[in-house]
Amino acid sequence: MRGRPGARRRLPRWLLALVAVLSLCLVGVVGFFGWVAVSFLRAPVDTVGEVEFTRPLHVPPLAESRVEGGTRVFSLDLQEGSSDFGRGGPTPTWGFNGAYLGPTLRAARGERVRVEVHNGLDETSTVHWHGMHLPAAMDGGPHQPVDPGETWTPEWEIDQPAATLWYHPHPHGETARHVYRGLAGMFLLDDPAQAEVAESLPHEYGVDDVPVIVQDKRFDGGRLDEDGSVFSGIGLLGDTLLVNGTVGPYFDVTTERVRLRLLNGSTARTYRFGFDDARSFDVIASDGGLLPAPAPVDELWLSPGERAEVVVTMEPGEDAVLRSEETGQRGGGRFQGGSDRFDVLQLRAADELARSPGVPGRLAAAPDLSADEVTGTRSFRLTGTSINGKQMDMDRIDETVTVDTTERWTVRNADGSPHNFHVHGTQFVVERLDGAPPPAELAGWKDTVFVPSGAEVDLLVRFTGHTDPDLPFMFHCHLLRHEDQGMMGQLVVVEPGEEAGAVPEDHDH
Ligand code: C2O
Ligand code: CU
Ligand code: CU
Repeated sequence: MRGRPGARRRLPRWLLALVAVLSLCLVGVVGFFGWVAVSFLRAPVDTVGEVEFTRPLHVPPLAESRVEGGTRVFSLDLQEGSSDFGRGGPTPTWGFNGAYLGPTLRAARGERVRVEVHNGLDETSTVHWHGMHLPAAMDGGPHQPVDPGETWTPEWEIDQPAATLWYHPHPHGETARHVYRGLAGMFLLDDPAQAEVAESLPHEYGVDDVPVIVQDKRFDGGRLDEDGSVFSGIGLLGDTLLVNGTVGPYFDVTTERVRLRLLNGSTARTYRFGFDDARSFDVIASDGGLLPAPAPVDELWLSPGERAEVVVTMEPGEDAVLRSEETGQRGGGRFQGGSDRFDVLQLRAADELARSPGVPGRLAAAPDLSADEVTGTRSFRLTGTSINGKQMDMDRIDETVTVDTTERWTVRNADGSPHNFHVHGTQFVVERLDGAPPPAELAGWKDTVFVPSGAEVDLLVRFTGHTDPDLPFMFHCHLLRHEDQGMMGQLVVVEPGEEAGAVPEDHDH
């Protein structure tokens, strides 16, 4: 080769190498800035007026159950499947007892329930009962893994007011992906002591009492796109909404009033719900049950994991579209979805509507937690993906709380990103939001509270009934990527004078 005539005209090898390296850098730099530009220029998602409501809203079936020795027994099977989201082909999804989402479990206060949770997936998961008051061992958090092929059978007694709770996986570091693929369902509680009010509210499941599980997705062809945008910082923000797994859903309303049980089952997105004609509607329940009184509003914010029950009044023959409007800076700004708007669900009223009773003016007793009882305070500072500068450690107990005592927890978002704050095993009261009493729609029991950038919330928190010095409950940001990345801590509830124990080794984990 050296002797070939053309060789002398070649550039020296080092120069070639340099050129190669430089051009690679150039490609990298151009690519990087192109990617930045594309992200910055990405138009906000706006589906208002664009959605054709062509599919009837799917209503998750009520879960079957049997009663065995006085215990109501449900079965949930985590499984793979495929769903038709109108993407020109089946979309691979996960679900409970089906391809996507899961049946609605329903039980009454005072009942003992048992759930046979079978994991038919190829990977370990868990099932957590979000909002449920139960022993930590039954909670279904990261310390109760269910391996592929295994069955986990938690059992507890329902002991809390009527409420719209939900269930979803909680394997540490994988929760966002498992929920995003479709593992979620509702768990409705009834309370015989509240029967009178329940009767006068819309209460026929699937007819005038309807679950509304709102989730945003992004598709890559027929598949769910699971890669979150790096710029959002909060995880994946989709451009397509599913309600109960239905794209472009409408619901045929046959009664004067309809009760929507709204669940933000999205992994990252916060919604600002309202109607296309700005009509007012009554919020009747927050996460943990009925409010003291209906709160008339024309918009309602729900961050991931939060629920609200609302009653909407319809005129015969009219249509109303549930929307989600821009959340602006409070929702985190445009890179966190703050400039996005969506049409969510169309309500189509029949020409004749069955009469509905008026919403009672008094719904439930106000939460019995008062500032006078506070015996201790804690503060939680949210930054990045940390709480009080710490990231989740499965082997570390962060907080030890004495059962039956009332504490004030101050949660501060000292960050440029929106967060929220969820506590397992109990329901709390929002005492103050940035120093002021909370709006009426937040005046009931809560288990998850939105904490926008710069905001501070004071919560009154009390754990009752179940103690376990060794097994922790979780508290965390319910923006699931944050949770997965470590924005979570562990607390144990102990008897007076008792100390926290050591977290037992989980099998295989
Ligand atoms: Cu909705 Cu820790 O959970
Ligand atoms: Cu929870
Ligand atoms: Cu967060």
